Amino acid sequence: MKKLTFKINRYNPDDERRGHFMQEYEVEVPSGHTVLDCLNDIKWNQDGTLTFRRSCRSGICGSCAMTVNGVNMLACETQALALGTDTITVEPLRGCEVLKDLVVSLEPLVNGLYAVKPYLIADAPPPTDQERFQSVEERDKLDGLYECILCGACTSSCPSFWADKEYIGPHGLLKAYRFIADSRDTGEQEHMEALDDKHGLWRCHSIFNCVEACPKDLNPTRAIVELKKKLVKGKVG
Ligand code: FES
Repeated sequence: MKKLTFKINRYNPDDERRGHFMQEYEVEVPSGHTVLDCLNDIKWNQDGTLTFRRSCRSGICGSCAMTVNGVNMLACETQALALGTDTITVEPLRGCEVLKDLVVSLEPLVNGLYAVKPYLIADAPPPTDQERFQSVEERDKLDGLYECILCGACTSSCPSFWADKEYIGPHGLLKAYRFIADSRDTGEQEHMEALDDKHGLWRCHSIFNCVEACPKDLNPTRAIVELKKKLVKGKVG
């Protein structure tokens, strides 16, 4: 058990005069408690007005992505004592409109995702007696792509997104490649439609923040490079 200080971004749209400010809370943190456990502790025992998103507590839903000690991460997967600091700063994801305290608008992230048609597109109707067949080798190609939980940690860490809120973002581009790489998908052109655009693939300058930020250790930049190769190849034949 150790006492930690949490410095948390506070913002209430109904109190615009006060604007954003950092509020401090002291928390007795037992071994094993995550940052999310600490935020719950604060909300339930000290300040019920503190507002943040969370749902699964298991690193699956992506709701609790936030900036902790300057780095994007999932609060429910991050052990507070393992951060190794007596003071932990907690801020909302960068580059996104803050709605309240740690809650941001996900609208630009959702728009980027929708732009790539993030679902399986197949010409042939599904077989009636079995699922669409995929070999083990074909399925293996999706490893490192399908695990994205759409938490937004990657895109909100990207300077290109900070400068252009219409940028599809690494989360959307990774999702596009997840379906293009799927042997059952025949909709490459449809997934690629929005990519050859100033808000698409070419907005990525391989800064690699997305790779560092991904709590699932995925590599959106590699997927983006593969997409760029496809697009160029399609143009030069
Ligand atoms: S609460 Fe679902 S990922 Fe953290």
